[in-house]
Amino acid sequence: RPGKPLVIAIDGPSGSGKSSVSKEVARRLKLAYLDTGAMYRALTWYCLKTGVDLQDGAAVEQASKIMPLEISTTTATEYVAVDGTDITDEIRDPLISSSVSAVATTLGARTELIRRQRELIDQHHRRMVVEGRDITTVVVPNAEVRMLLTASEEARMRRRGIQLGGTQTKEQLNAQVIQRDAKDSTVVNFTQAADGVVTLDSSELNFEETVQTALAIVSKVIYGD
Ligand code: DC
Repeated sequence: RPGKPLVIAIDGPSGSGKSSVSKEVARRLKLAYLDTGAMYRALTWYCLKTGVDLQDGAAVEQASKIMPLEISTTTATEYVAVDGTDITDEIRDPLISSSVSAVATTLGARTELIRRQRELIDQHHRRMVVEGRDITTVVVPNAEVRMLLTASEEARMRRRGIQLGGTQTKEQLNAQVIQRDAKDSTVVNFTQAADGVVTLDSSELNFEETVQTALAIVSKVIYGD
């Protein structure tokens, strides 16, 4: 018998530590976990694979509707597949990262991915940590817990640099973190917290401190102070 609904919606820019923090919160609270960014990445992979022009909005939307996507919803394994092909690692390639904004700014494709996200949330009886850019505002605005995880530009570029193995120049990191967010924020506002959304600034916190703060926000929202 599933417990009470507990959707924890977490939005934020790249390099804010969103994915690792969201996953760890899900693990500790024994909730399912959905990385919605991976869905935009999978659609980008699928468009490139099938020769869909990313500038052709109608074609990208059509691709979003027919894409046979499989995505893990547990913290134990990360798995993304399209039509049976495991693309878990491939969707992290720089080619995908630099192309994904074109897909994420296609409104018709967003509508379809959001529909799939809500379906997955319901399949898990609404007990899930869901992370992305528009989760607190569009996908699940009625989530039990809504959080915006932020960090200074400097902290975000530093973290992404470490994640990529320390081989990137400052200009490359700026393109991958700051410029991509600028592009993405033309369709979804994830730089300011909407009404009722709690902001967690992790600039001065390490990973464990950030997770603890996020868990404290969850407790406070659920049990009051
Ligand atoms: O979090 P990420 O870097 O894996 O996200 C990949 C891309 O998808 C990024 O360009 C932002 C976009 N995205 C989005 O528009 N809405 C979401 N809910 C999640 C990601």
